[in-house]
Amino acid sequence: MASNTTTEVFGLRLENPLLLASGVVGTTPGGLKSAVGAGAGGVVTKSLGLEAREGHSSPNVVGVDCGYLNAMGLPNPGAEYFADELSGMDVGAPVFASIFAEDPDQFARLTEIVSPVADGIELNLSCPHAEKVGSAIGTDPELVEKIVSRVVSSTDLPVLAKLTPNTDRIVDIGRAAESGGADGVVAINTVAAMTIDIKTRRPILGNVTGGLSGRAIHPIAVKAVYDLYEGLSVPIVGVGGVETPETAIELILAGASALQIGTGVATRELSVFREVDEGLAEFIAEEGLELEEMVGLAHHK
Ligand SMILES: Cc1cc2nc3c(=O)[nH]c(=O)nc-3n(C[C@H](O)[C@H](O)[C@H](O)COP(=O)(O)O)c2cc1C
Repeated sequence: MASNTTTEVFGLRLENPLLLASGVVGTTPGGLKSAVGAGAGGVVTKSLGLEAREGHSSPNVVGVDCGYLNAMGLPNPGAEYFADELSGMDVGAPVFASIFAEDPDQFARLTEIVSPVADGIELNLSCPHAEKVGSAIGTDPELVEKIVSRVVSSTDLPVLAKLTPNTDRIVDIGRAAESGGADGVVAINTVAAMTIDIKTRRPILGNVTGGLSGRAIHPIAVKAVYDLYEGLSVPIVGVGGVETPETAIELILAGASALQIGTGVATRELSVFREVDEGLAEFIAEEGLELEEMVGLAHHK
């Protein structure tokens, strides 16, 4: 693995800045381990709630021209079950536990459950297709600040707030997370979207609407990261359509200190981590830069 992409962020040393995004192969601890084996510098678990949950009826993931549309509805085995499975397992790289809940008390309880088995906490304040959780609460800056501050006081681990692009206030929400004590923000979750079968004239997803990911949302992620970099002081994790070294470099230049890959794992398989890392390492060497120096370079006049 290329050593010039080793980095430190949120007090954690990462072999490279490419993390597995929540919801993709990280549904089991074994899946997390295989992503690290394939070259991920860190991993994020599938979002975990207090109770086991089945999620929405299928079809819950459909391929569209420019990415994937999903309305999984946050299926998960429950935080306690997952934490038990993960405990004692050496994943080989930092693990962020992604959690979702309806209010600050539930978030605090989840944080206590997952903290013993994680290296960081990612708050899902951004899923666009589940009632009362995700973006339903993550678009209210006051509530975001309250949730983050409860979580921060419930753990010693770094806490990241994952933001929704389905708002015109992403920077206000990011600032609220920062005021609540977040160590960083993650941008972006999926973009609200839907697709219709023209023959049956019916929406295709079981949940009718869902979230778009992959190539189509990359420029949206670039703008979100760029705007957040202007408005916040904490590090930003960029996510959305990273599938090639170029897409990764663009997000770093916009202001991302680390990146996550979700759909890229489906379109390019787990080898996406090594391929992107190698291309990034080559670019850094060619440009004569350190990785950290590249962060936010697009802002320099
Ligand atoms: C099938 C699927 C399931 C997802 N599940 C979650 C989840 O549980 N929690 C979450 O915060 N994001 C979830 N996401 C969003 C991704 O983590 C990521 O933010 C988004 O897909 C954009 O990145 P990408 O273009 O690299 O996929 C999911 C995405 C997909 C495609």
